[in-house]
Amino acid sequence: MKVLHIDSSVLADNSVTRELSAAVVNGLRAQLPGVEVTYRDLDAVPVPHLSGKSLAKVDELDAAAGERVLQQFLDADVVVIGAPMYNFSVPSTLKAWIDRIAVAGRTFRYTEAGPVGLAGGKRVIIASGRGGIHTGSNVDFQEPFLRQVFAFLGIDTVEFVRAEGVAYSPQHRVDALAGALASIPQLLAEAA
Ligand SMILES: Cc1cc2nc3c(=O)[nH]c(=O)nc-3n(C[C@H](O)[C@H](O)[C@H](O)COP(=O)(O)O)c2cc1C
Repeated sequence: MKVLHIDSSVLADNSVTRELSAAVVNGLRAQLPGVEVTYRDLDAVPVPHLSGKSLAKVDELDAAAGERVLQQFLDADVVVIGAPMYNFSVPSTLKAWIDRIAVAGRTFRYTEAGPVGLAGGKRVIIASGRGGIHTGSNVDFQEPFLRQVFAFLGIDTVEFVRAEGVAYSPQHRVDALAGALASIPQLLAEAA
């Protein structure tokens, strides 16, 4: 089984989502020995922003980088994404990655009946961290956005491990992180 592990936090060792995404991947490794993990740190090695040149494929390096990102995504059985909420949405590096995996003819296509996702059959697990508490709020453009992106690509199984309110106080952060970490074994066991 192939796992693609993506991180996008800018907070290095102080990151909530990095800790959560690593715990999910470690859980998968324990559950499925021999699992093959590909890791991409979008903060350390960002994917170039999509541009007119990218679409025209006039820059060979850019085209190759985009194709690598897309192929890693297509090859994965499970995609684990560390996705903090930054300014109500996702980090721009994660958006740049999404712009490279949403490719007409490869991961979705339009038909006379509307769009059809072509990347179904994967499991996507999002390790989400939020300074505030946003579940159910109408200013959450992070989780609904991520659900919509993957649904559009044909992936209905998008699960969230979530630490919220981490900015409220140090104790909130400790409790939210502990709660999120504690939820991982059950989440992984459910689909085992
Ligand atoms: C640049 C930046 C923007 C942020 N914007 C928001 C926000 O809009 N809403 C929110 O609830 N928290 C916000 N936060 C707090 C983060 O969501 C919170 O710290 C979370 O733990 C980030 O995950 P990370 O620790 O893995 O980076 C922001 C943090 C940073 C660094």
